[in-house]
Amino acid sequence: MILNDPEFVEQMEGWGACFLPDQRLSEYTSLGVGGLADMIVIRDTEAVEPVVAGLRERGVPWGVLGGGTNVLAADEPLKRVLLHLAPGPRDVVFDGNTVRISAAASLGRSVMECAKRNLGGMEGLVGVPGSVGGALRMNAGAYGTEIGPLVRSVRVFRGATGITEKLTASSLGFKYRKSSFAPDDIMLSVTLDLPDKPFSQIIEYVKQLNKRRLSSQPLKEKSAGCIFKNPPGLSTGKMIDELGMKGLRVGGAVISERHANFIVNRFDGTASDIFALIDIVRQRIHKAHGVELEPEVIIWKN
Ligand code: EPU
Repeated sequence: MILNDPEFVEQMEGWGACFLPDQRLSEYTSLGVGGLADMIVIRDTEAVEPVVAGLRERGVPWGVLGGGTNVLAADEPLKRVLLHLAPGPRDVVFDGNTVRISAAASLGRSVMECAKRNLGGMEGLVGVPGSVGGALRMNAGAYGTEIGPLVRSVRVFRGATGITEKLTASSLGFKYRKSSFAPDDIMLSVTLDLPDKPFSQIIEYVKQLNKRRLSSQPLKEKSAGCIFKNPPGLSTGKMIDELGMKGLRVGGAVISERHANFIVNRFDGTASDIFALIDIVRQRIHKAHGVELEPEVIIWKN
């Protein structure tokens, strides 16, 4: 436990936040690995400013946990408190073709809420796991759709200044799996402009994509999606596959036979197993192609 201040903990309850010491990150991440971490679950986004100010005063480092679906957390206890925004009942609010979605909301569920209002544009993202905040940070994408181009503005708490700001899309620097948010920015909500599209058409497309994804990705196993980015003009999955590395195993971590850019935690693996497998893949790809693979997942190590 790195935050040990009962008075501060009691104070944050009054702001709409709750302290959970010594949580196992393996239970909060889709890869099912990761050591202990202190968490603060935030039910009311107004609590973000005073909570962070309080952590700063006490010299306690902090980070943000979204849906935990794109994170590889090390096995050792994390030396920072993780803030986690809790989803709520009014996470998706419509105004014509404009929708405001809380960062805490599930991306997949939000896509479906929009579909029910005959609003499209996001349907390519339906199978992308995780929260809307995480999707913004990574500019999540699949099947030719990225969240970035749909964004009008984002309300974000800026770690650097401790102030909440509304940023417009042009200042967010969305690129392939990248945005210009700082690691200590906390996305609070996003406003999207969506085109009209009939529900039936959206659902038809969603069904097609689900089928395609199910046949090409190991969705029933523990993973964090693709583990590496695609280098410009190249396909990481294809390169790993061509080197015959599917099924390669270190401890409980395996390179998926279904998609070579997925590492799955099949046999109660640890983060160390996954790091070791990542190193092997990077070395083999570097030797064969002279390319340095970059992780697509966010790595949490002390
Ligand atoms: N391929 C192989 N062997 C494999 C995997 C892929 O030969 O084991 C080949 C495929 O046949 C295809 C090419 O590689 O010709 C590309 O594969 P795929 O269509 O699966 O796309 P990808 O580039 O590997 C990207 C995203 C995925 C996203 C899919 C679908 C990245 C790193 N990955 O994968 O996103 O779901 O497109 O749009 O950009 C993620 O973000 O975690 C993720 C999985």
